Amino acid sequence: MLVTMIPSPSAFTVKKIDSPLGVIVHDLDLTQPLDTGTLTALRKTWLEHQLLVIPSQSISISDLERFAHGMGPYGEDPYFEAMPGHPHVAQVRREANETTRIFAEAWHSDWSFMVSPPAATVLLGSIIPPTGGNTLFANQYAAWEALPDSVKSRLRDAMGIHSARRGYARDGAYGEKDREAGRSMAIRYDDSALKTQLQPIARIHPETGRTALYVSPGYTLGIEGWSEKESEDMMMFLFQHQTQAEFVYSHEWSADMLLMWDNRCLIHAATGGYEGHRRLLHRITIAERRPAL
Ligand code: SIN
Repeated sequence: MLVTMIPSPSAFTVKKIDSPLGVIVHDLDLTQPLDTGTLTALRKTWLEHQLLVIPSQSISISDLERFAHGMGPYGEDPYFEAMPGHPHVAQVRREANETTRIFAEAWHSDWSFMVSPPAATVLLGSIIPPTGGNTLFANQYAAWEALPDSVKSRLRDAMGIHSARRGYARDGAYGEKDREAGRSMAIRYDDSALKTQLQPIARIHPETGRTALYVSPGYTLGIEGWSEKESEDMMMFLFQHQTQAEFVYSHEWSADMLLMWDNRCLIHAATGGYEGHRRLLHRITIAERRPAL
C-alpha cells in the first residue's frame, strides 16, 4: 500500500493511503483514554479523509467502546444481537466451516433505511484470515462530483426510497432460510425491515457541507415519485457509476486493526475468499452528533 505523510497537529501521525479515501493513523494507544485535543484532531482528520485505519491496537471491548463513544454518541443497531454485557457492540463473524453467503457483500451505507442513520461505523479486526476478506470502500463525494451535470440536476431534489427488506425481512438474504442454513453471526430478521424511509439522493453532509451520492444496491429500492422504469434505469446507472474503480479502496485487514468510516460519504462492501478460515470483527456504530465538533 502506497502512503504519503501528512503533518498532524496532534501526537499521532497520519499517512494518506494512495487511494480515493482513507488515512493510516500511527502513534495512538487506544488502551488508554484519549484527551479531548486528540479526539478533536482525530475527528477532524476523519471528516477530511472519510476513513481512519488505526493498526496494531490490541484492545479490549471496553477500550473499543471508550474510543467509539469518544468520537460520538452510540448509534442504534437493528437486526443484530449485541454481545452479552455490551449493548452497543456486535460481532461480524464467520466460522471456518460456514457455507452461508458472505455477510454484507452488497454495497451499502450502514442502516441508511433508518430515520437518522449512523454517522460512522467503527470496526475492529479481531481474528483475520490469512487471505481474502478485504472490505471495499467507495467515495461518494467523488461519485457525485463525477456525475454529468444533466444527471445531477435531475437528482438534486430527488429522494431515494431506502429499506432493509432485501437483507433483514423474513424472506431477505439474512432471513428465515439463512438462519436455517446455520449462520453463526447473531442476526435477527424482523418484519419491520419491510418499512421504507426516504433519504435525499444528493445528500449534504451535515458536518462538511459537501454533497455525496447517497444510494446503494443494498438498501435503495428506487426514487420517490418517478415511474418504475425511470427509477429502475437511474438506479442501475447509479449503482454502476458509484463503484467505479477510480472511487474505490480495497482494504486489507490485519489482526488488531481498527477502522472508522463515514457512512454519509462512503459506501462499503465485504468480500469473501477465505473459505476454511475463521473471521471475527467487533463493530460499533456512532450516531449523528449535534452540534458537530
Ligand atoms: C460490514 O459491512 O459492517 C462488514 C464489513 C466486512 O465484514 O468486511
